[in-house]
Amino acid sequence: MGAALSSEAASCYGAEAVGKSSFDAKNAAGLPPSSAKAQLERRAPDHESLILDPRNGDAEDDVSSPKQKSLLAIAGSLLAEISLTKLLLAWIASILLPAAILGLVPLAATAWIGGVFSRLVDLSEIGAALALLAIVAAGWFGWRPLFRAAEANFWALNALGVQPGYALGREAIRHLMERAFKPRGGTELARMRAMSCAGAGVLLAIIAALAALVAWPHTLWIGSASDLVIAHHLIAPTIANATVIMSAYLAAASLIWGFADASTDQPLDLAAFDPAPREARVWRVAHLSDIHIVGERYGFRIESGRGGPRGNERLRRVMTCLEAEHAASPLDLVLITGDMTDAGRSGEWAEFFDILGDHADLASRTLILPGNHDVNVVDRANPARLDLPFSPAKTLRKMRFVSAMAAFGADRLRVMNAGAAAPGLTLAASLAPQRQAIERFADQGGLRLSNQLARLWNDLFPLILPPAEEDGLGVAILNSNADTNFSFTNALGMIPVGQANKLTAAFNRYPSARWILALHHHLIEYPMPVAAFSERIGTALINGSWFQRVLKPYAERIVVMHGHRHVDWIGACGALKIISAPSPVMAPDSKPTHFYIHALGPGAGGSLALMAPTRIDLSADGEGGSSNPQPSLRGA
Ligand SMILES: [Fe+2]
Repeated sequence: MGAALSSEAASCYGAEAVGKSSFDAKNAAGLPPSSAKAQLERRAPDHESLILDPRNGDAEDDVSSPKQKSLLAIAGSLLAEISLTKLLLAWIASILLPAAILGLVPLAATAWIGGVFSRLVDLSEIGAALALLAIVAAGWFGWRPLFRAAEANFWALNALGVQPGYALGREAIRHLMERAFKPRGGTELARMRAMSCAGAGVLLAIIAALAALVAWPHTLWIGSASDLVIAHHLIAPTIANATVIMSAYLAAASLIWGFADASTDQPLDLAAFDPAPREARVWRVAHLSDIHIVGERYGFRIESGRGGPRGNERLRRVMTCLEAEHAASPLDLVLITGDMTDAGRSGEWAEFFDILGDHADLASRTLILPGNHDVNVVDRANPARLDLPFSPAKTLRKMRFVSAMAAFGADRLRVMNAGAAAPGLTLAASLAPQRQAIERFADQGGLRLSNQLARLWNDLFPLILPPAEEDGLGVAILNSNADTNFSFTNALGMIPVGQANKLTAAFNRYPSARWILALHHHLIEYPMPVAAFSERIGTALINGSWFQRVLKPYAERIVVMHGHRHVDWIGACGALKIISAPSPVMAPDSKPTHFYIHALGPGAGGSLALMAPTRIDLSADGEGGSSNPQPSLRGA
């Protein structure tokens, strides 16, 4: 079996040659001749005779790595490699077409009204009454699609341009302020960030209003049938119309969002953990994130290149440590908050199943959720490659994830339907009618199936693991990845309004329950200085502040768990406790890593208590993990 072969190879060869330097591997040759490890070493070429030891990788492994290359260097190679045809098509499909449709709607509406009324005046009284009835009927059926088209394209442009534009402006101003005034952190940093939000709101409102003023002379709001016939005359006015609509919206929204963000609770380090309840139940949750599994034994990760780990040995050690912890005191949940794979490739998922397949009991308690590396990385070897918005390759990565997720908890997780008051079918039951379509699509691809399955994906989240008792602990799983097409934007996050509505409906269904809210992205920037602006803006949850306000009425009953930035932080925004997981693998093989097992319990007044976690350290020497019972609010 693949799993057995893989793990055996890792323990006798991979653990030495993958997990350690070639010096260590050479020393291992001194082991007894009967050792399988020594036999493999004898068959391997002498490391010192190799000009290039392929196990150490080379420059090709750093090609997309922001840790090994400057952003300028990556941008340069991107410009050289990019497909201009695809870029043009993506721009037309994502921006030009939605803008043209949005700008055309007022012209089409006024042309239709004008045409109808000019005919009405020519009719007799009865004829006019009948015509009016016909107009009402036509309007009932005809206007709805028109307004729906306008609405859909408005929100598409909002998601693509307005909200990211606001978030970019806000974070840029915050970053400049922090650079200029160097606040010491804590409440001082929080106050400066709040003030920066208000300032950014005003500034962006002014810029957006100016853009609307510049575009206004080119707009055309009242059309006629003859205008609509000459299509090429409409290009400039429809784009100008859309620019004015979106700029006016950005101007008003920036002011509202800016002041709302300024008054939202800013994140602070957690003041103290809750005391352990005397008799009440405690839930033990192992929180893993960003394990970035690679599909090759010696493979390097996109993000770290040769500055990070090779292969998947560290994850095997994580699982061994978890087995020991689970044997000593059973775990209720192993939660992996995204980026299970480095690029969502089949070979990476195969490794994931091989590794978890060796730990059946832990696997049965595991839940996973999608990270940007699982669904948004277009090509791990070519940062310039982009997906078209309707690309089947995007859907294929999503279906690989759906298939993997269904292997963990498909009978326990439930799907929330839009408008429903309670969780509905299990994930297994929801996917059953689509199973053949998913298999056929994975085998043959195709646009029609891709569109069908993309809708399935959009309706799937949040997934709900309902609490066992009315006042028990539930788990809500979100998809926080923005629907991006491009390597540069693959790490951006966005919570769709529909997903937030379904989530609050689930919270309302269980008014006494406590919740782990699991997603990949951080809600809000951490309360410590950020080194690189690109990291700050390139990885953000665009509407995180808004989402935090959505959660506020439920905050005392929730602990948010996420990953994404590999930052070890436990804190709170007001009453909302937030845990950001470090990556237990993303460090060079020579450096230690760690992760946490959290203890949650019923708190006072129906709240969810967060007790001091157990920190599990993984040493660099490959000798397995060690448990450190000291509580830690912020790791090394
Ligand atoms: Fe990520």
